[in-house]
Amino acid sequence: MKGRLAMSVELDRRLDPYPWYAQMFEMNTPVFSPELGAYLVFRADDVRKVMADYQTFSSTVFNGLSSDLPFENQLTGMDPPRHTQLRALATHAFTPKAVQELEPRIQAIVDRYLDRMLEQQPVDFVKEFAIPFPITVIAELLGIPEEDRGQFKYWSDIMVEISERLLTGKTETLPQHASAYNDMMNYFVRLLTERRKHPQQDLLSRLAAAEVDGQRLSDTEASNLCSLLLVAGNETTTNLLTNAVRTFAEFPEQWDLLIHNPSLVPQAVEEVMRYRSSVQMMFRVTTREAQIGDLRMKSGERVIVFLGAANRDPAKYSHPDVFDITRQPGAHLTFGHGIHFCLGAPLARMEMTLALKTIAQRVAQFNIPLGYELEPLPSFNLLGLKHLPVHLVLRQSSSVQ
Ligand code: HEM
Repeated sequence: MKGRLAMSVELDRRLDPYPWYAQMFEMNTPVFSPELGAYLVFRADDVRKVMADYQTFSSTVFNGLSSDLPFENQLTGMDPPRHTQLRALATHAFTPKAVQELEPRIQAIVDRYLDRMLEQQPVDFVKEFAIPFPITVIAELLGIPEEDRGQFKYWSDIMVEISERLLTGKTETLPQHASAYNDMMNYFVRLLTERRKHPQQDLLSRLAAAEVDGQRLSDTEASNLCSLLLVAGNETTTNLLTNAVRTFAEFPEQWDLLIHNPSLVPQAVEEVMRYRSSVQMMFRVTTREAQIGDLRMKSGERVIVFLGAANRDPAKYSHPDVFDITRQPGAHLTFGHGIHFCLGAPLARMEMTLALKTIAQRVAQFNIPLGYELEPLPSFNLLGLKHLPVHLVLRQSSSVQ
């Protein structure tokens, strides 16, 4: 069958998957990967088609994979009508207004971590900025007490590990995963119970009070939403920030353009998202026979859509492999498409914009130490780095000079 290739998908294209995507584009059709047991979709139009047709391409990819770690109860793993109800509720609690109101706080958090970072040279951008900044933001949005935030990065990492293991066929539960999962869920249930008694001006209180069709969310449902926001709001932004600095270090003339034209920041954010997104792929499962391009799929087949590839589709972008912050932003697929479109997109855009704008006011150049070899994040579906040591050359006009 055309497209059913005995294709080896090396999982270690982690630092730079783009040459491989370019090869895949040449085939001009989705392919089947025996190693991954899934159909792989690269073209932007095909990716959109899959993500738009939730009746054929279901999100219930976690169903039945683990009874200890019921990830199917997460919004991302649901189809309508359950998804519609919970999504409406989450949207109601997680309003653009709530995000907008957080802007001064987000700016203060950017300033705090940037000041700290500038005190150390060279600095690991991942450790000192890209990790703590989004964690602090999501913790403030949810209303997590400061003393508990240390746990967050650990829980968030564990949730990513669990989801990757399940999606790559490792379905037995590791004891440390089960205990972290239970600790996290119990923690959220405790906070939600407190907020029901003493509501505050935070997302936890809004989730604790939220109702779907006159019914209050159960503790488990509300805790699941909290844990999803924690994970979805962390790793994604951490790695996108890291990818932004990695890319600007590689293309210093683009950074120079940005610092002399700060009005380009929103466009630069969109171009980083297109050029080197953190979330490279999403999973679906067919509910009935389907066809994409020349490829026919049976019901019950796994499908992986490559958002990172779609964003470099030569049919959609001229010179797709050129990083150009003056490019007119088109509709990239970084936040997905259709009913699961990223709920946190306005927050992610605000975080990226404030971070890049503020760093551009003070940093003239990012220099990665000579001979340093970038180490990819050991992740299946996220593109990022473990560390990013950079020497930050300060701008002459910067107040810290
Ligand atoms: C640069 C950062 C981010 C990227 C690249 C990103 C990417 C995505 C993508 C691709 C999806 C679609 C999933 C699918 O179709 O199966 C998604 C969904 C989601 N995202 Fe994000 N995201 C980012 C930041 C955030 C933030 C900051 C939050 C919230 C704090 C968030 C919350 C969510 C939620 C709750 C969903 C599930 C929506 C649903 O299933 O209906 N994301 N995100």
